[in-house]
Amino acid sequence: MNEFFDGSVNPSTTQSLMRLRSPLRRRIILGTAVAALFPAAGLAARKSFAFSFDGVPLSASSDSIALPAGYRWSVVAAWGDPIDGQGKAMSPDADDTAAMQENQFGMHHDGGAFFPEKGSSNKGVWVVNHEYTDDGLLHAGGMAPWTAEKVKKSQAAHGVTVCMIARQPSGEWRPVPSPLTRRITANTLCDVSGPASGHVLMRTAEDPTGASIRGTLNNCAHGVTPWGTYLTCEENFNGYFVKTGSVSPEERRVGLDAKGFGYRWQEFDERFDAGKHPNELNRFGWVVEIDPADALAKPIKRTALGRFKHEGAWVTLANDNRVVVYMGDDQRNEYVYKYVSAKPWDRKTNPKGQGLLDDGNLFVARFDADGSGRWIALEHGKNGLTKENGFIDQGYILIHSRLAADFVGATPMDRPEWIAVHPKNQDVYVTLTNNSDRGTRTPINAANPRERNLMGHIVRWREARRDAASTTLRWDIFILAGEPSASDMALRGNVQGDWFGSPDGLWFDKRGILWTQTDISTSTLGKNAYANMPNNCMYAADPNTREFRRFLIGPRGCEVTGVDLTPDYNTMFVNIQHPGESPSERADPSNPTAISSWPDGAQMKRPRSATIAIWREDGREVGV
Ligand code: FEO
Ligand code: CA
Ligand code: CA
Repeated sequence: MNEFFDGSVNPSTTQSLMRLRSPLRRRIILGTAVAALFPAAGLAARKSFAFSFDGVPLSASSDSIALPAGYRWSVVAAWGDPIDGQGKAMSPDADDTAAMQENQFGMHHDGGAFFPEKGSSNKGVWVVNHEYTDDGLLHAGGMAPWTAEKVKKSQAAHGVTVCMIARQPSGEWRPVPSPLTRRITANTLCDVSGPASGHVLMRTAEDPTGASIRGTLNNCAHGVTPWGTYLTCEENFNGYFVKTGSVSPEERRVGLDAKGFGYRWQEFDERFDAGKHPNELNRFGWVVEIDPADALAKPIKRTALGRFKHEGAWVTLANDNRVVVYMGDDQRNEYVYKYVSAKPWDRKTNPKGQGLLDDGNLFVARFDADGSGRWIALEHGKNGLTKENGFIDQGYILIHSRLAADFVGATPMDRPEWIAVHPKNQDVYVTLTNNSDRGTRTPINAANPRERNLMGHIVRWREARRDAASTTLRWDIFILAGEPSASDMALRGNVQGDWFGSPDGLWFDKRGILWTQTDISTSTLGKNAYANMPNNCMYAADPNTREFRRFLIGPRGCEVTGVDLTPDYNTMFVNIQHPGESPSERADPSNPTAISSWPDGAQMKRPRSATIAIWREDGREVGV
């Protein structure tokens, strides 16, 4: 994500500081609470992984990819590469037009998923999010002068790429032509479904129906449905909008202000001027469903899943086959949500899952200090969410999910990022990447117990009856990130094996290996608390032993994010986002390779985000 802009906008967490002085909190801080809080039955007996690779030492950090011995990697597709593998690639000077960018991979690859062609491990559709742009790199000359064409190019470099990729005899993967290949950008027409579709707060001059939205943006992480569609999630949508006049409480609650994040789209596309088009802001911040198997299908914004800074949307099935979607709202002191469909999924009668992401209930999580937790329904007429209290209807509650979650007393978290469901025992894990405000500007709580939480942690829960549709749970802290030898308790972690901080990407493969990726901000890497951590990394973990092993170190200034495997586990896909990012998150256009020139070296004159493929020289499964 854009790390600069994660400051809290949650006023309900700024009351006088509460100190949790119980022995419980002290145990958590000391890292011994895991066994005490979490019922161990069913966990201890499971097979532990014997990783066959040695952890990659931090001394291997460079401006390239570092992997364990015996592993190879290659670039599948980088920003500016033609999406069909045949068109024109971007020029090293980045003087390509907006129209050319519409047929090239976008910038800042984030979440992604591989959809095998007929179960193949050699060919399939790769869908990848392009979260945001670095306009210092995107345009020849950077942002000076700022033009309508540059706004269009920035919008074209956002969104999603759907492309066919195939394995070559060498083990490398490449985009290949396919009728399924397409770009979705900040100007692609999307349908709107669910209770907020057509709502008066969704209507604009351009779209008086409130049911048709141009574009998706800040596409962070993702989800995959059991019926084979891809969910792309709109995270820091507020930063594209500006409003010079006074902002309403609803606008303030999602962080609208006079400056935005400096994208300057409003100067040539006035729908991003929230003073002129106030409801346009309400049309972003959603989960958007894309069908990778139908190039003509419009993306659909699924409003039943709520509107907030959606990190991702991770789908599982309840015991009765109802569809459950776990979601994090990534900002300091925001919440964890889940959606439960009204009806179960029947793959025979409803192979495309129609209606299942439109008709259902949204819940928000409360994690109590005794290790129990509750899912609180954000449903009109329940839990005080009534007209009398300002919640006029279900559409309003979904559009302003944060306000509803504040009202019902959800637990403010340390920036919820990815959520992963264990494939065998259904336990759910969420990364809480960091929150320097915790304990200073906002109170600690049992699930977020560290003051100045610069390292982050992973919370885990088990739903009652191990049923994802349950409304109660038990939770614990799976891991506190940080160096176990740190003298400062706020920085000390309890990680077994290789240490890390700022966990973000989190994904279980079907074998039960927990993959964790870090997003230490570029203003922090290699400095202060992270002095010993020069680059972001990726780890394989055994959830039984809590051992983490460093599997990959990324190039300089990158975030490691997005991961998937082919069905045979022989190829892993990983996204390397924003190599060479400067602490300001906008490169100096006169020196774009100041920090990194990955992956092309000097010839491309600028670093590029990319998907890489990873495989083993001996042709065996990745990771074990
Ligand atoms: Fe886009 Fe929270 O990372
Ligand atoms: Ca980042
Ligand atoms: Ca992320």
